[in-house]
Amino acid sequence: MAVKTIQWKNDRVIMLDQRLLPHKEVYRVCRDYNEVAEAIRNMVIRGAPAIGVAAAMGVALGMLKAPEKTFDREFDRVVLTLGKTRPTAVNLFWALQRMRDVYSRNRSKGVESVKRALRDEAQKIFRDDIAANKQIGKYGASLMRNAKQIMTYCNAGALATAGYGTALGVLRALKESGSHFEVFVNETRPFLQGARLTAWELKKEKISATLITDNMAGYLMQKGKVDAVVVGCDRVAANGDVANKIGTYTIAVLAKRHGIPFYVAGPTSSIDINCPSGNDIPIEQRDAKEVSHLFGKPLAPKGMKVFNPAFDVTAQDLISAIITEKGVINPPYQPNIRNYVSY
Ligand code: MRU
Repeated sequence: MAVKTIQWKNDRVIMLDQRLLPHKEVYRVCRDYNEVAEAIRNMVIRGAPAIGVAAAMGVALGMLKAPEKTFDREFDRVVLTLGKTRPTAVNLFWALQRMRDVYSRNRSKGVESVKRALRDEAQKIFRDDIAANKQIGKYGASLMRNAKQIMTYCNAGALATAGYGTALGVLRALKESGSHFEVFVNETRPFLQGARLTAWELKKEKISATLITDNMAGYLMQKGKVDAVVVGCDRVAANGDVANKIGTYTIAVLAKRHGIPFYVAGPTSSIDINCPSGNDIPIEQRDAKEVSHLFGKPLAPKGMKVFNPAFDVTAQDLISAIITEKGVINPPYQPNIRNYVSY
């Protein structure tokens, strides 16, 4: 993998610090689960599948030195801490549930077996995610083979996953299939995942891309410069509503207005069948400083009120299809999605 988002090495979790990209490539070493939790909360690592992998590795790391006497209590504490880091991406809770299941299946074999099993499972979640993304890429590239001008939002790339990416996985697969196309990258205020991360990845990958500010998307569509949109997802509700980075909804409405297909790419671990609709998805509110400041410098007058929801919900009727590793889900989502649930 050209981009090493997260690795398990010598019983440490190593992450590329995404806050410093694209100018500095610095790796952070997490030696205990609290450091992993902090890294998720502070956006050292971000993107739904990537935080799922990080949480799983955090559990494995947290239990390595757990004493036998307090082993069960410690497990609950570790899972609870990691589960409180970010609320919207369901992959985090999906990964923690997988770790819980492994814990229960192995508990009777003793603590050393549990530790081994947790470590193996975290690494399996990592490998499974890359495999899923490659499949998403294949399905997506076939669906979008005629698109020559493609818009994306936020970062749903290798950095947001264990590797290869979901929406950017589709772009990678399109390139691998010999297709020539241009990508329009929305900067994605306020955290600038598009300008900093997607631009960095596409440049590394030698995929031709143009950066725009978020308010230019409608103009480009109106001028016939966009054939398709592809974005990632943080949580897909049972009715097909999708939570993704704040601003995704705006792009989806614009795409609908201009008759442009709007695709969501994501692993089935992003589907939350227990969540009936987008209204039930918890939306994370982040620090006001992400909006009022840029790179540590204030943009707005001191004391200005700020609203900073990190995600919005795109209603299912704005989505042309959802590309998963098990295949493409077409509308009507309410009945169709049930065949693609991973747990
Ligand atoms: O706040 P972030 O950077 O974690 O938000 C990321 C997104 O919204 C991505 O589009 C989503 O997680 C899909 S990543 C494959």
